[in-house]
Amino acid sequence: MSEKYTTRSPEETVALGRTFGSRLKPGDVVALWGDLGSGKTTFTRGIAQSLGIPPSIPITSPTFTIINEYLGTTRLYHIDLYRIRGSEDVESIALREILYGNGVSVIEWPDRLGIDGLPENRWDILFDILDENGRLITIEWISTGD
Ligand SMILES: Nc1ncnc2c1ncn2[C@@H]1O[C@H](COP(=O)(O)OP(=O)(O)O)[C@@H](O)[C@H]1O
Ligand SMILES: [Mg+2]
Repeated sequence: MSEKYTTRSPEETVALGRTFGSRLKPGDVVALWGDLGSGKTTFTRGIAQSLGIPPSIPITSPTFTIINEYLGTTRLYHIDLYRIRGSEDVESIALREILYGNGVSVIEWPDRLGIDGLPENRWDILFDILDENGRLITIEWISTGD
């Protein structure tokens, strides 16, 4: 079952992220799929707000650091794998401990992890660019384990 939403501004995408974020539990993994500029980081700002991270704290794509950690009511790990090239790179950042830990993990460019690299239980959020300010955002709970 997937839920589809259309947002018409960055603010609406933040608001959707905030509403979605209120459904998250400690340990949840959220994979954000979509092209550059489709709204993944914008959506993450809403998730951060729902976890009690003050809006004054900037949430930017951690392109150079790979992982940014924020202290909210639940710890938030914002992970951007854009620059990751192979499984060796992934091993070197101790991602396992984070993905299977008690924080909420939000991952941009999850495709870099390969087909077996993502947890079997996770949220998939798909971002499609409709036009300049329009985004189609699909939310899906994935559970391929038993
Ligand atoms: N409805 C919308 N939702 C999210 N971003 C939007 C929307 N309309 C326009 N934008 C713009 O698209 C860009 C999205 O950037 P960002 O969230 O960093 O994308 P990504 O992390 O997917 O690369 C921003 O420049 C934002 O202002
Ligand atoms: Mg981004």
